[in-house]
Amino acid sequence: MKDRKNRSIDYLRISVIDRCNLRCVYCMPEEGIACLDKKELLTFEEITRVCTSAAKLGIKKIKLTGGEPLVRKDFVNLVRQIKAIEGIEEITLTTNGLLLEEKLDDLIEAGITAINVSLDTLEAEHFKNITKVDGFDKVLRAIRKAANSSLKSVKVNALVAKHLNEEQICHLARLAEHDRINVRFIELMPIGLGKQFERISKEEVLEILEAEFGTLIPYEKQLGNGPAKYWEIEGFKGKIGFISAVSDCFCDACNRVRLTAEGFLKLCLHSKAGVDLKALLRNGISDEDLMLTIAEAIHVKPDKHYFEEVVEAIDEQEDKMMAQIGG
Ligand code: GTP
Ligand code: 5AD
Ligand code: SF4
Repeated sequence: MKDRKNRSIDYLRISVIDRCNLRCVYCMPEEGIACLDKKELLTFEEITRVCTSAAKLGIKKIKLTGGEPLVRKDFVNLVRQIKAIEGIEEITLTTNGLLLEEKLDDLIEAGITAINVSLDTLEAEHFKNITKVDGFDKVLRAIRKAANSSLKSVKVNALVAKHLNEEQICHLARLAEHDRINVRFIELMPIGLGKQFERISKEEVLEILEAEFGTLIPYEKQLGNGPAKYWEIEGFKGKIGFISAVSDCFCDACNRVRLTAEGFLKLCLHSKAGVDLKALLRNGISDEDLMLTIAEAIHVKPDKHYFEEVVEAIDEQEDKMMAQIGG
């Protein structure tokens, strides 16, 4: 369906849990956050009810996120249930990769067609400094296994920030050299702990890459369903992508809404606007009214994020952590 800005909304990002098994310094404090109780999480039945209504309104693509989605019990069964919904054409996953190696085959069998794995460094000790967990080898093995599987696409999401990992940019890009892995550099967004780090813009990353690999060639075709823009490095199998929400705002072409783990239909990553669907579901809303509620909400989706504006000036601006939003 279209929103009032005439944007086609066909993509729903579902955060299935706010817990995570890593503690990335720009995302979660080491002591963790106050997580939702199990009864506060949407059940699989509630999630599939929302997906069914959303599919009738034109949602075709589902992205499953967290926290870390693979820590949700029985996650593979949720994928199966969503896969069975008429109108859903694609279910993809964004994960930190820690549990991926052991679950990959089941996920593919259940219907996941593309996976994005977050990885900000190619050094084990540095990985531990960033995430507070000793899991680098596991994540790298999972990425390689995924790249050699029947998945349609495997992408690595590398967040880049000053004094965090700028010296890793070329190493990370090399993941795309011999394998069909697209490596995307994610510009830091000023959300939660991310506000404490300094952003590196797309231009700066491009400059670093071009100094090492020569001129990158813009890749004009659409890849994936998201806001990334892609370049090619001569001789590399995978592409190099950029998701630059602040320096290259993509809100005019936004195609998505979000469902948080606690059942809030969130209309923009960076806004409090939305509807508490869980309350409605648990108060016995009919299928027809559920559809109508979702349609009305999508219609008034905010125009854009306000990362660049004075924070105090905007009450609607989100103050949650990234792990509670689902990226
Ligand atoms: P695909 O390319 O289709 O796999 O999707 P994607 O790139 O949208 O998904 P992914 O979950 O890998 O997200 C990558 C990064 O993009 C994360 O840092 C997200 O926070 C960010 N992102 C995803 N959607 C949005 C959005 O609507 N707005 C903003 N500002 N950032 C987003
Ligand atoms: N800005 C941009 N991306 C972020 N992520 C986590 N916090 C931020 C932030 N403040 C990214 C992770 C992961 C993806 C799902 O979201 O690095 O790759
Ligand atoms: Fe790191 Fe993602 Fe977990 Fe946040 S939710 S701590 S970015 S792995």
